[in-house]
Amino acid sequence: MKLYNGCEIPCPGFGTFKIPEGEICTESVVEAVKAGYRHIDTAAVYGNECSTGKGIRQCGVKQSELFVTSKVWNTERGYDTTLRACEKSLADLGLDYLDLYLIHWPANRMQFGDKADSINVDTWRAMERLVDEKVVRSIGLSNFYPQHMAAVLAGANILPAVDQIEYHPGLLQEETLALCREKGILVEAWSSLGRGKLLEDTVISGIARKHGKTTAQVIQRWCIQNGVLPLAKSVHAERIRENFAVSGFELSPSEMAEIAAIPEFRYGSHPDTAAF
Ligand SMILES: NC(=O)c1ccc[n+]([C@@H]2O[C@H](COP(=O)([O-])OP(=O)(O)OC[C@H]3O[C@@H](n4cnc5c(N)ncnc54)[C@H](OP(=O)(O)O)[C@@H]3O)[C@@H](O)[C@H]2O)c1
Repeated sequence: MKLYNGCEIPCPGFGTFKIPEGEICTESVVEAVKAGYRHIDTAAVYGNECSTGKGIRQCGVKQSELFVTSKVWNTERGYDTTLRACEKSLADLGLDYLDLYLIHWPANRMQFGDKADSINVDTWRAMERLVDEKVVRSIGLSNFYPQHMAAVLAGANILPAVDQIEYHPGLLQEETLALCREKGILVEAWSSLGRGKLLEDTVISGIARKHGKTTAQVIQRWCIQNGVLPLAKSVHAERIRENFAVSGFELSPSEMAEIAAIPEFRYGSHPDTAAF
């Protein structure tokens, strides 16, 4: 896929949330690159940037051919703290630059009242500086819905390239998708597989059988056909390969609609009420 600033972003992406720091993380990243992934998603709060970086250096593919994302955690929001957080992520990863850096969660009104918008704007100003200093190639948001995005968009010199949100057939996020489409912001799907639980859905597994594909592959395909870049995590080589092999088939408009009609649910926190 392509970002509005012309940068290519490989699809799908490999997620590393909940992979513990250590050999298992390094091996999973190496396995992902071996399977064909060129896009690795991590975050300071995952606590595995050192091992993720080791995997990136050991995988045999040059960093220039990979796309690496990290995120500034909630405790580091603000101008100076965001600059320092990025520096630490780069040091932990052992990299000179990031392809994409995201604000992990917006400051929300429940926690910060009237100050929420200005905290997000200050954090965004630091993100812009990181681009100016060529430390990161693209910047974006995560878990920002239209109500959180408004202040950032109004004051931005550089528009966000990405918004990474919980998105899957049970959470269609129509308003956020519409705003992102209007502004040229690419939406990335976290927990695209519903942390694995969506794989038990009988509607999706029925469609998967018809295509000779797995349920995970159909969900990833469904995201892509909606113009959303899916991220999936696994520590198992077979599943890593399975989740990457999502090209070469097409869901029909009626299958797309059937999948979108499964009951609504949310696995993660809502950004308006997240208290972390
Ligand atoms: N920005 C944010 O706030 C945010 C929040 C959450 C996640 N993310 C990003 O999005 C990525 C993906 O989301 P996620 O990790 O929450 O959930 P996910 O990718 O939807 O699901 C991961 C779970 O599904 C299992 N799984 C994966 N592929 C499978 C397959 N083919 N068959 C059966 N089970 C399978 C994994 O188990 P095994 O590992 O045991 O195979 C794991 O338990 C994260 O890793 C992270 O990079 C971002």
